[in-house]
Amino acid sequence: MTKPSQISAGSTLGMIAGGQIGGFFSEAALRMGYKVAVWDPDINAPAKRFASEPFTGEFDDKRVFNAFKEIVSGVSVEWENVPNSLIKELEKTVIVKPGSKSLTLAQDRIKEKSFLASNGFPLTEYVAIQRIDEINGVPFDFPWIIKTATLGYDGHGQWYIKNMTDITGNSALQDSKVPMVVEKVVDYQIEVSVVVAMDDDGEVIAYPPTENLHKGGILKMSISPARIPDEIQSRVIELGCSIIRSIGDPGVFCIEMFLEKNGNLLINEIAPRPHNSGHHTIDAFSVSQYENQVRVLTGLPLREPIMLCESVLLNVLGHEYDALMNNSAINQILSSLNAKIYSYGKTSIRPGRKMGHIVFCGTSLDELIRQAESCQDIMDGNLSSG
Ligand SMILES: Nc1ncnc2c1ncn2[C@@H]1O[C@H](COP(=O)(O)OP(=O)(O)OP(=O)(O)O)[C@@H](O)[C@H]1O
Ligand SMILES: [Mg+2]
Repeated sequence: MTKPSQISAGSTLGMIAGGQIGGFFSEAALRMGYKVAVWDPDINAPAKRFASEPFTGEFDDKRVFNAFKEIVSGVSVEWENVPNSLIKELEKTVIVKPGSKSLTLAQDRIKEKSFLASNGFPLTEYVAIQRIDEINGVPFDFPWIIKTATLGYDGHGQWYIKNMTDITGNSALQDSKVPMVVEKVVDYQIEVSVVVAMDDDGEVIAYPPTENLHKGGILKMSISPARIPDEIQSRVIELGCSIIRSIGDPGVFCIEMFLEKNGNLLINEIAPRPHNSGHHTIDAFSVSQYENQVRVLTGLPLREPIMLCESVLLNVLGHEYDALMNNSAINQILSSLNAKIYSYGKTSIRPGRKMGHIVFCGTSLDELIRQAESCQDIMDGNLSSG
């Protein structure tokens, strides 16, 4: 049985932006018999390693747009901050999942939070401000996190505020002319995320929630499944699925949440795409989040993913990559640990940049966390541990 909108194997799928997420999508698509056209302004974008058709040019380049549109049967995105005007233009003639509706929400924290609040979903306390002098109207106590409403990722465009001096003494904040949200810092028990996929018929599948540990605002380690009782796991999944149903756009999404100490769940944010905290689904599940991105885009069936093993994912950030790729470190890691290394093929290193990740699969989360910590020690230059 073929659906009218199904995209057949052999067709070319378009990926807007070509980082590691676009790369994993491309690998899944190639394996399933599709070709992939990756469009990214950077000629060395990692996903282009897998592209049958690489497109290099700014996202407002009409020439590139026309050539790209000509060959793709469906388009997906690597992250939410690609220009929505481009997605809206593509939507006129090509299948695009996720579409501009979910990108509009995910590109602007104020729109996303007001959508969630107006649909009754639980959020962190927050106030939207257009200018920094509106800060005096914030009705809750310190500490706060101030976040720019748009273009935030990996903790960029965020300030941790303990008192008013942190605002008056911060020239970047004082000079900021962009809308922002002020959030109360949540004293959470753990951070969790859940990856959900929805097809054109509104059928939804979800992965077990992942427990996420951040360092300096950047994801460092994800533990799957999250070490929380089944009842809370179910609530995380239900919440994630009902958010995606209420947005109503087919695609793969990740919903980040805080579990408060009293057991309440609060939504942090929604990513309308596969997520870093779901990279382990390549190794630890019957179907990865990337294959599901391909399935949703092409109209192929979704099935509930089966967990094959417990897993821990360790991000390789910035110059940790140099340490990892040093021969003695890599030998030590691969000989002493059950590590599977993913290197994204980025041509330059910046502090905190996601350069790769390492997955540990097994049957005991305690043991896998211990292995990930040993691996981190080795990347930190502590070669005697192991
Ligand atoms: N209100 C909050 N209370 C406590 N911690 C927070 C809060 N908001 C953000 N954080 C911490 O900062 C991290 C990054 O915040 P957020 O997810 O909003 O930003 P981001 O830049 O979009 O990050 P990413 O790209 O990693 O998703 C969160 O995962 C969490 O660890
Ligand atoms: Mg986040």
